[in-house]
Amino acid sequence: MRRPPVIAIDGPAGTGKTTSAREVARRLGFAYLDSGALYRAIGLSVLRAGIGDPDTLAFAKLLNELPIRAETGIGVFRVWVGETDVTEDLRDPQVAAIASKLAVRSDVRRRIDAWLRELSRLGPSVVEGRDIGTTVFPDAPLKIFMTADIEERARRRLLDLRRHGIETSLPEVVRQIGERDTRDEERKEAPLRRASDAILIDTTRLEFEAQVRLIVAAWYRHVRKTRRWCYAAEQWSIRSVARVLWGFHVEGVENVPTAGGVILACNHKSYLDPPLVGSVLPREIYFLAKRELFRIPVISGWMRSRNVVPIDRGGVDRTALAKAMGLLAQGNALLLFPEGTRIRRPGLGAPREGIAMLAARARVPVIPALIQGSWHGERGRRLGGGIHLRFGPRVAIPEVAEGRQGRILFPEIARLIMEAIGDLANAEESARISV
Ligand code: DC
Repeated sequence: MRRPPVIAIDGPAGTGKTTSAREVARRLGFAYLDSGALYRAIGLSVLRAGIGDPDTLAFAKLLNELPIRAETGIGVFRVWVGETDVTEDLRDPQVAAIASKLAVRSDVRRRIDAWLRELSRLGPSVVEGRDIGTTVFPDAPLKIFMTADIEERARRRLLDLRRHGIETSLPEVVRQIGERDTRDEERKEAPLRRASDAILIDTTRLEFEAQVRLIVAAWYRHVRKTRRWCYAAEQWSIRSVARVLWGFHVEGVENVPTAGGVILACNHKSYLDPPLVGSVLPREIYFLAKRELFRIPVISGWMRSRNVVPIDRGGVDRTALAKAMGLLAQGNALLLFPEGTRIRRPGLGAPREGIAMLAARARVPVIPALIQGSWHGERGRRLGGGIHLRFGPRVAIPEVAEGRQGRILFPEIARLIMEAIGDLANAEESARISV
């Protein structure tokens, strides 16, 4: 299986790496992995176990049996040692000093690298550290290297320590950071250095918001480049024509995850809906379409090359469902119409259960989308408002059990999804009213 993408953010202490990495992860809906916290967790365990010399059996045993557990979430990284959440204890400068000394050891580094690679399999992530772009994920699609003057870094670190009730002085922090820089840069194992393909960001005089925007923009640039040129060219043509003919406009594209499996659940009014939805996203997406449309060979070939998967209408098409599951599991975006067919009257139709089954089993985000006006567009007419497409925030789908027990919830899940789509219309109305 394809590994979910990683954004690698490296650099010395105090460059704003942690806060930026966390915020970038939050904005992109990625998990956040703090590799430094893992080094610190081992440091803390050594400190607590009272091991003075790591070249002992006691240390080897500790490293082998470490009860360290990392909990990752969107923009969140917490570390547990046994039953205790030690995330806050890891900030202690004493712990940082030991972590930096242990980080020169290859046994420690191998252990943490393996951990990070394992955690990164769970989904797209932003991974922060010193050697992420050079050693841990040398094939990361986006690498950032952050730097800043040492004085500025020390000032930031001092503020951070004070916020956490740790008192120290600026010269002392400059000395500590300088010492750590030297150790991190001069060690033999995976020294701190910029990967040749990493984007350099000097944060000495850069505001936080600007740092985050630079990284997010670089990521979107990367995502756009993953589309085939013919796909991207067609997207542009469709958007341009739709804008001129039907005043096509879009909102909320930022709600659509840029990586990983995702279901886009849209209401269905017209044949124009799939190309219109597909035309506005920075990544390629997959579509399902009734098999009859695949009868004409040339068109069939073109549709397949544009990620359209044939589906039998009427009964349950198990092959198509399995194919859809596979696409989502491989980290693709799939556009589905919960109503199953075009609804040729105002308002929304009732949802079918297929989408609920996919959402519950694939466990990927479901993003609602509402398209309005495309029905008239299909007939060559244009209503006052034109064609309007809006994406909303992720629908909260309850976890369901496997088998029959879980199936009972499918109608409810389908209803939740349809309701989220309907809410997008209300959001628009309330916005209009408030104007
Ligand atoms: O980023 P931090 O201050 O939490 O890192 C703690 C120590 O761990 C730091 O001295 C360097 C080391 N480290 C490392 O060697 N490689 C990493 N990928 C992350 C941290």
